[in-house]
Amino acid sequence: MSATIIDGKAIAQEVRSGVAEKVRALKERGINPCLAVILVGANPASVSYVTGKRKALAEAGMLDKSVDLPESTSEEELLSIIDSLNKDPAVHGILVQLPLPKHIDEDKVIMRIAPEKDVDGFHPVNVGNMVIGRDGFLPCTPHGIIVLLKHMGIETSGKHAVVIGRSNIVGKPVALLLARKDVNCTVTICHTGTPDIGSFTRNADIVIVASGHPHTLTKDMVKPGAVVIDVGVNRIPDATKKSGFRLVGDADFDDIKETASYITPVPGGVGPMTIAMLMYNTLESAARIV
Ligand code: GUN
Repeated sequence: MSATIIDGKAIAQEVRSGVAEKVRALKERGINPCLAVILVGANPASVSYVTGKRKALAEAGMLDKSVDLPESTSEEELLSIIDSLNKDPAVHGILVQLPLPKHIDEDKVIMRIAPEKDVDGFHPVNVGNMVIGRDGFLPCTPHGIIVLLKHMGIETSGKHAVVIGRSNIVGKPVALLLARKDVNCTVTICHTGTPDIGSFTRNADIVIVASGHPHTLTKDMVKPGAVVIDVGVNRIPDATKKSGFRLVGDADFDDIKETASYITPVPGGVGPMTIAMLMYNTLESAARIV
């Protein structure tokens, strides 16, 4: 048996088309959805992500208030830019691309963004609302994973989901969303302190791997017929590529696709969904003020 490859790019495109349609309707009522995407420095992966986000904004017909700042930008300067964007009624969403240079405290920056403009869903107010099931912005990658599972018609209720990774951006929030009533999974979180991750994943119906390391999930760790969602984006040196690298996930895709029932590719799986859900959150933010 060979797994169905989940086409995240196509599903993300559907979400983005739906957003674009709603943006047109909002514009007819005089509202121009606008996202400020702030990039500090020139980390190559961050530049590539931000470029993708800005392209998606243009395609959805939303305004893009780009702010590109040098690596040397002080924490004070960044915080004061956030303050003015918080006050600007024409700006509906503010996103500061992470990671930030070491001299800037990420926590302070996240806390400074007004929760009602925090389309990343990273502010403690939005995190708290997610935990207790109140309305708020859901973080884009975890939300995108849930949309992928639903879109593919994958049965989740009563299933055992194992999440590998406990980051604030992916591992912890996706575990919470999987445990919500509407998804209804039993959830286990594995992390660097878990002695034998395979002993958990071999019992999983759904494995979400977000460790940030290639080869974290190997074929022997996956139950035949399981669903594998790979959140990893790792750059591996590859002399045959013009860029000098290629992207691989955290799972051994070629081996695992022989036993899994569904698997996401890297690239083209979870990544495009992150951008699609960011467009969705920005639209929601603009629509809320109607
Ligand atoms: N860095 C990696 N993923 C993300 C994300 O979803 N949002 C932001 N702001 N930075 C990131």
